[in-house]
Amino acid sequence: MRFLITAGPTHEPIDPVRYLTNRSSGKMGYALAAAAREAGHAVTLISGPTNLPQPAGVNFVPVETAKQMFDAVAGVIQAHDVAVFSAAVADYTPAEVSADKIKKSADQFALALEKTADILGSARVQFGFGGFLVGFAAETRNLIAEAQSKLHRKACDLVVANDVSKPGSGFDSDENEVTLCLPGGRSVPLPKMSKTALAARLVKFIDERIAAQNPR
Ligand code: CTP
Repeated sequence: MRFLITAGPTHEPIDPVRYLTNRSSGKMGYALAAAAREAGHAVTLISGPTNLPQPAGVNFVPVETAKQMFDAVAGVIQAHDVAVFSAAVADYTPAEVSADKIKKSADQFALALEKTADILGSARVQFGFGGFLVGFAAETRNLIAEAQSKLHRKACDLVVANDVSKPGSGFDSDENEVTLCLPGGRSVPLPKMSKTALAARLVKFIDERIAAQNPR
């Protein structure tokens, strides 16, 4: 099958030397790309800026901003069977980018922000994606309820939920502890494991769900 994976943070420029971003190393998405490749799938990895080496054997598409990630996904998603959105996309971007470096003056400074387009939320309605859709939910409270709501609102087949308030899980860690949220209100907690092990487990889980949906 053909897997599309988004990974990493996005950078939203404020001026030539500053940007807004999210805490994300990209490790989960890169591990997923490697695991899908290892399982014999063709992989497109659309990645925001990270410090990670490019995984071998994948079609790598580097982007910087949420808008660039949106456009990159829009352009290729239909050619894929599975789309996994693990990127920590900025929800807001500066309404205007200053051409010159903003100099400090007043004691307080307000930055006007506007919402970015929701890539995961556009997959079904705007891009017309009919494949297996996976979202991520990084929450600090009401983890399962928030993830189930996301699954429903964005018509996902799976939402991988993690509680980012727990130390040593998510963000820059090499490990992650997640709960798989599925349609019908079902949720499956997984033990804490390395992101590499979790990626292999997720790819296997997705393969099995798709096989169960399409019995021969
Ligand atoms: N995502 C995306 N495009 C965005 C923002 C998020 O594709 N502009 C994806 C992420 O890759 C992840 C999921 O959406 O798979 C995370 O959603 P999140 O932003 O947490 O969801 P919302 O419900 O839209 O936001 P909130 O929790 O703030 O209500």
